[in-house]
Amino acid sequence: MSVGIDEISFYTSNYYLDLRTLAEAQQTDPDKYYVGIGQEKMGMAAPDEDVVTMAANAAMPLLADGAGEDITTLLFATETGIDQSKAAGVYVHRLLGLPSNCRVVELKQACYSATAAVQMACALVARRPGSKVLVVASDVARYDLNTPGEATQGCGAVAMMISADPRLVEIDPEVGSYTEDVMDFWRPNYRATALVDGKFSTKIYLKSLKKAWENFRSASSLMFSDFGHFCYHLPFGRMAQKAHQHLARLNKCELNSEQLEGQIQDTLLYNRAIGNSYTASMYIGLASLLENCQQNLAGQRIGFFSYGSGCVAEFFSGRVMEGYERGLHREQHRQLLEARQELSYEEYLQLYRYPDPRDGEHHDIPSITTGRFRLAAISHHKREYVVC
Ligand code: HMG
Repeated sequence: MSVGIDEISFYTSNYYLDLRTLAEAQQTDPDKYYVGIGQEKMGMAAPDEDVVTMAANAAMPLLADGAGEDITTLLFATETGIDQSKAAGVYVHRLLGLPSNCRVVELKQACYSATAAVQMACALVARRPGSKVLVVASDVARYDLNTPGEATQGCGAVAMMISADPRLVEIDPEVGSYTEDVMDFWRPNYRATALVDGKFSTKIYLKSLKKAWENFRSASSLMFSDFGHFCYHLPFGRMAQKAHQHLARLNKCELNSEQLEGQIQDTLLYNRAIGNSYTASMYIGLASLLENCQQNLAGQRIGFFSYGSGCVAEFFSGRVMEGYERGLHREQHRQLLEARQELSYEEYLQLYRYPDPRDGEHHDIPSITTGRFRLAAISHHKREYVVC
């Protein structure tokens, strides 16, 4: 039986900062960002947006025509948790009107946890082939101001319906995994921004790719040359380019650099405009590939490399299905990205510094987002979400 991704949709805030503006404020050459890290813009969440509202916005298009009725599980992957106990997905469950018999759980392992969710979802569907599992991954990437990480911020959410006989991508059961206890990037519970050993994080990302690939090769008969395209975790575009060259070298691949670039370039387009969305980023890269590649991808194998700092990494494979275009939301995504509003540097700082009340008083939050769902208030330590 074939199991995999039946439909995919993503969401990002309607605000962004152009990295040229950041470069100007920092008196840095904009090419450091545009070329050196391969990013142009970064999404900035409005005060009334968070991982819950972004996830609900991403998932809403997947629920047309009563599709929500068959969902038995909602898996919510994030590292921007809003509560130590309650799963953020429980709010999403209500906002989307999912059946009360649908179970909900939150998963965490830095950017990797969406892949854990996809693998668990495939296993659940394989046990009950008539069921569907909704996987949502939603994050706001935040670093301290004036640090090297600042230019790699962003925000976004992706929603994927996992089912039997999927319309988009069948996921193969063989995986290559790698885990190592390292401190390359982390965020203690008392901090709003991540701490990172930037250069070390890029090294450990590449080391994990090698280890996960070797483990994958011991489990699967597929070789580097069997893949038409590759989706990498995307903290920034240049990281994927370096990773792909690294993997090609490890496999003594004879493709030239232009051909190698052709295997990943369509995966980078959306992330270049959104920034790092942590758990969501590799899957937004998949949507970018499926929606923008000029070739018919049907029948092609895609290699996926998922990386979560700390660290857990996984290489796995999937095959694009015949007629995959039917499960896409290309036009909606194009409109979402085109309708965004550019921020000045001062407006960016205002959003960055917007207060996060912790005193238990009632705080109304101004209505700013253009999304369908918003965080309307925080009152008595409770978050109040509404449908606009
Ligand atoms: P940096 O140290 O300021 O940058 O920050 P740099 O000086 O190394 O420059 C970056 C590149 O730009 C270099 O190219 C420069 O040569 C080039 P490279 O040597 O790498 O090929 N450059 C220019 N190019 C053209 N014109 C110019 C110019 N100037 C310089 N004028 C760093 C880089 C990645 C350290 C920083 O952005 C950072 O700390 N980012 C956050 C950490 C991160 O994203 N790590 C990635 C791997 S870990 C990961 O992916 C997990 C993560 O998503 C979290 C999770 O799992 O939850 C982060």
